Amino acid sequence: MLYIGLMSGTSIDAIDAVLVDFSNEVPQIIATHSHAWSLETRQQLLQISQSNQAVFPSTIAHLDQIVAETFADAVHALLNKTNYKSQQIQAIGSHGQTLWHQPPRCSGLNCRPFTWQIGDPNIIAQRTEITTVADFRRRDLAVGGQGAPLVPAFHADLFQNAQNTQIILNIGGIANITVLPANSKQILGFDTGCGNGLLDAWILEQLGVKMDFNGDWAKQGRVDKNLLEKLLADPYFNLPFPKSTGRDYFNLNWLKQHLNKESPVDVQATLVELTVHSISRSIQPFDPKRVLVCGGGVHNALIMQKLNEVLQIPVISTAEVGVDPDWIEASCFAWLAKQTLERKTGNLPSVTGAKQDVILGGVYYA
Ligand SMILES: Nc1ncnc2c1ncn2[C@@H]1O[C@H](COP(=O)(O)OP(=O)(O)O)[C@@H](O)[C@H]1O
Ligand SMILES: [Mg+2]
Repeated sequence: MLYIGLMSGTSIDAIDAVLVDFSNEVPQIIATHSHAWSLETRQQLLQISQSNQAVFPSTIAHLDQIVAETFADAVHALLNKTNYKSQQIQAIGSHGQTLWHQPPRCSGLNCRPFTWQIGDPNIIAQRTEITTVADFRRRDLAVGGQGAPLVPAFHADLFQNAQNTQIILNIGGIANITVLPANSKQILGFDTGCGNGLLDAWILEQLGVKMDFNGDWAKQGRVDKNLLEKLLADPYFNLPFPKSTGRDYFNLNWLKQHLNKESPVDVQATLVELTVHSISRSIQPFDPKRVLVCGGGVHNALIMQKLNEVLQIPVISTAEVGVDPDWIEASCFAWLAKQTLERKTGNLPSVTGAKQDVILGGVYYA
């Protein structure tokens, strides 16, 4: 029951690789590895995934291969940390790297919905000699769903308890919530909007560093109420769920449409406030007893402090209930691979808006 999950999210910060044992009721993480992108590949991915400019098909075809090769390298590095051989692994679940996510009911002219993850699974299966399951999102789209978020079913598996309504909040480049209601099987979930993505992009452009460690830079700025209001007025935040979004929407171009002459540090402070307010507004109607936080944003002390202040209920890391917040999403893709091989469905129509639940992904045998 050993599965590997491979995930690289909208932050494109690193490839998360995790080896999970599903033999017991509680999934057990055996090994983890965070695999760096080469600067060049990361730069290319960032550029293509946020500007709708012409790109040669050959550029994307090559990138599809390079992403797959890097994912396969991540698997080798992960297994090298253990005594396991590829023959002992049931399967890899590979999310791939999203180039563009344009779900149903998006705005804009050219609005036929699609979602597009690259990282050729043929290459991953061949290089690792492990059966690879990939392309999870498009089957949900094919039955009318958003293709995202896919993690709520796994959150339910990990955290649902019948006594209290809980929210699982994943703060990646984009933030998403899972609502686990007490006494109900009806799980809800959606993308609340920007998470760390804009914070990363703005500090990179202004100071040339990859992230605002602990929110230290934002702490030095003042929240610009005017700007905050303009940003929060974006229609996405008021859309009813199901809804999902990506870096192709919430990016520097989006931010710059709203900027006037604010000082860079105040913009950073305001972006933290935007993340916090868009998340809390999404959470409040469900009246949960607590919020469990995972994803990289859990390490941003400023975001965590402000969420606690605004929501006035415990907002804590999943680490406090024994689950490492940095590996949940990658573990989810290991779990989804297992679901697929066992011919079980992986999407939740109540979350994605799909017409039915379906078996997700394609299988590339070793
Ligand atoms: N100590 C920290 N302080 C502030 N932000 C952090 C810290 N650690 C991680 N992050 C943020 O988390 C992001 C990565 O989160 P992750 O969950 O991997 O997102 P994604 O799923 O989009 O890849 C980083 O880009 C960074 O913005
Ligand atoms: Mg990441």
